[in-house]
Amino acid sequence: MRVSVILGHPDPKSLNHAIAAAAVNTLRELGHEVRFHDLQAEGFDPVLPAGEAARDAELPPLVALHCAEIAEADGLILMHPNWWGQPPAVLKGWVDRVLRPGVAYEFLPGDGGEGVPVGLLKPMTALVLNTSNTLAAREQAVFGDPLERLWADCILRFCGVGKVVRRMFGVVCTSTAEQRHAWLAEVAELVRREFPA
Ligand SMILES: Cc1cc2nc3c(=O)[nH]c(=O)nc-3n(C[C@H](O)[C@H](O)[C@H](O)COP(=O)(O)O)c2cc1C
Repeated sequence: MRVSVILGHPDPKSLNHAIAAAAVNTLRELGHEVRFHDLQAEGFDPVLPAGEAARDAELPPLVALHCAEIAEADGLILMHPNWWGQPPAVLKGWVDRVLRPGVAYEFLPGDGGEGVPVGLLKPMTALVLNTSNTLAAREQAVFGDPLERLWADCILRFCGVGKVVRRMFGVVCTSTAEQRHAWLAEVAELVRREFPA
């Protein structure tokens, strides 16, 4: 199975990077082909330039590589911190530039773009791993857990992903080393469960 793993976090010492390493190592142990991108480390430019949204636009090589990989993916893992109820800009820009028409979705003939598009990604499983400093109950009650709606409904299912599994780890800022180790073990377990060998 080809699994794309996309990380949006600036700090290599972060919990998010440790989560990414746990996920990638587990996927490799299971024998999967892993395509891992630390977006910030590779200098992914999140700003969609004028003209690039057009269906037939010529894409810069890095964006074209991401598009080719996501079109081939049999599984997807995304990891990022909760920043204002949203992903960091580098990952938001990855969505803007990579999940593009003709790659991730397509409007049916005769639809000028106002209708419901067809998702083009494989009907795969996507695992979304988030970190947060807000208790889960407060995130839901006060903010409506915007990351759930964003990833599951607005982006991934829209693009044809069949199953979305999401886990938000927190509260990070008050967590103990023991707690963080337990979270990393849970990441490995989730990966084994959702992407079996
Ligand atoms: C710009 C910014 C915005 C943030 N917004 C939120 C927020 O809306 N809710 C929240 O619970 N934590 C928020 N945080 C805290 C991060 O979620 C937290 O630091 C991160 O999940 C910890 O994981 P890490 O060690 O991998 O960075 C924010 C942090 C930053 C830097």
